[in-house]
Amino acid sequence: MKYELDYVLDSALDGIFIVDENHRLVLFNRACEELFGISRDELVDRACWKLADFKATWKEKRAGSESRIAYGDLASKKERMVLAHKGGMEVWVETIYTPIYDPESGGIAYVMGVIKDISEQKRLEEERERLLEQLGSMREELERKYNFSEIVGRSPSIMKALKLTAEVAPRNTTVLLLGESGTGKELLARAIHYNSPRASAPFVAVNCSAFPDTLIESELFGHEKGAFTGAEKARPGKVRRAMGGTLFLDEVTELSPAAQAKILRLIQEREYEPLGGESTLTADVRLIAATNKDVEKRVREGTFREDLYYRLCVYPVTLPPLRERPEDLPVLVNFLIRKFNREMGKGLKGVSPEALAVLSSYHWPGNVRELQNVMERVTILSKREVVGTSDLPTYLFQDAPEAKGEAQIMSLRLPKKFSLENSVQRFENEAVAAALKSSGYNKARAAKNLGLSRSTFRYKLAKVPKELLGN
Ligand SMILES: Nc1ncnc2c1ncn2[C@@H]1O[C@H](COP(=O)(O)OP(=O)(O)OP(=O)(O)O)[C@@H](O)[C@H]1O
Ligand SMILES: [Mg+2]
Repeated sequence: MKYELDYVLDSALDGIFIVDENHRLVLFNRACEELFGISRDELVDRACWKLADFKATWKEKRAGSESRIAYGDLASKKERMVLAHKGGMEVWVETIYTPIYDPESGGIAYVMGVIKDISEQKRLEEERERLLEQLGSMREELERKYNFSEIVGRSPSIMKALKLTAEVAPRNTTVLLLGESGTGKELLARAIHYNSPRASAPFVAVNCSAFPDTLIESELFGHEKGAFTGAEKARPGKVRRAMGGTLFLDEVTELSPAAQAKILRLIQEREYEPLGGESTLTADVRLIAATNKDVEKRVREGTFREDLYYRLCVYPVTLPPLRERPEDLPVLVNFLIRKFNREMGKGLKGVSPEALAVLSSYHWPGNVRELQNVMERVTILSKREVVGTSDLPTYLFQDAPEAKGEAQIMSLRLPKKFSLENSVQRFENEAVAAALKSSGYNKARAAKNLGLSRSTFRYKLAKVPKELLGN
């Protein structure tokens, strides 16, 4: 029997040892010796110190009450420490000391130690610490990046949009962001999230137009295994992933009717069901929706639910197109030059007044995104410190006043027989139409490009045949 007990103890993966108060090792199993290679003296010293500690507590307890000390009253706590390995290395171990009572006297006779190597656990814990730290600094970076101060512009319209969003950010209110493509809707949505109490939870963006009708529901709400052909595993949706954070529904008008109904329920009841599932789940998400479409028109046409529109439209914020806020252009150009200088290690100083005039005359259908692309390209290609007109892509000149005049004269085709008066009128009509088109149908800008007052422009525009105007 004794032999068998030794055999069993020697087979244990944890180190087990027993010490008496005279520093005598009663038991020291193979794992202590071989696996850890821990020095006996160090262990024995610690165990004896522990034994004395147990005895003192035991005496104290005995003095306080006559009743017997329950087993486990002195059960030791886990203790973590670094022990020197015989090979010179240090090992992280966790030891549990347990007192062993003398059955006759009832006093503590020995202490048993069970040692576990926790080096791997320790390594994982340290790795976790490191990752959490990294996550913290990445989050700080994101917060800095999506700070409202990183949204550039000084025009009254952008200032108004920023003021509105800064006010609503700390609340849970649903926000609807309206504006043409590239005006900064997603940038603003992120700024709202990172300046809200939900900042440390995820910001999850879903582009509602990127999925066919059948898939958008599963993308948003997730599905159970076997919910549809091909659903081999259960999968959580974006609503689940945005738990505690913000769900950004981009291009919200493109949601299928079924998905619209579910989103409405999500807003009203904060509830949803994964596809093919029985259970109803609660969603703790803040919604931000965006669109570059005319939502009211969609409602009138019957493709977008009116009740959902009203729910989303609690707090609308409109981002104006770049061509309607010319004062933002130079500020954005400088901001982008600095940004790309930093990213590409370049040293551009700015743009020449002529180049700025060309940039200002262009109608920017792609808004800030398009400007950003142009400035990136310019930063890569420009060989000079100050960007000149020759560094700009040629399509930007289509709206520049001089270039336009030239293009028109060349493209004017006259019939074989013509009176001068007719041809002048014809030339004028074409010039007015071209100016209007290239300004993105902005009459004020078209008038400016042609060097006319607004009223003269309107007077001339009234004479232009409809078919010349397109649109
Ligand atoms: N005011 C601004 N200041 C700085 N950067 C801006 C500003 N507005 C937009 N941007 C930048 O322009 C790019 C386009 O912005 P964003 O993606 O937010 O546009 P969007 O309105 O969501 O467009 P879409 O409707 O096409 O999705 C982004 O890289 C964004 O960082
Ligand atoms: Mg977007």
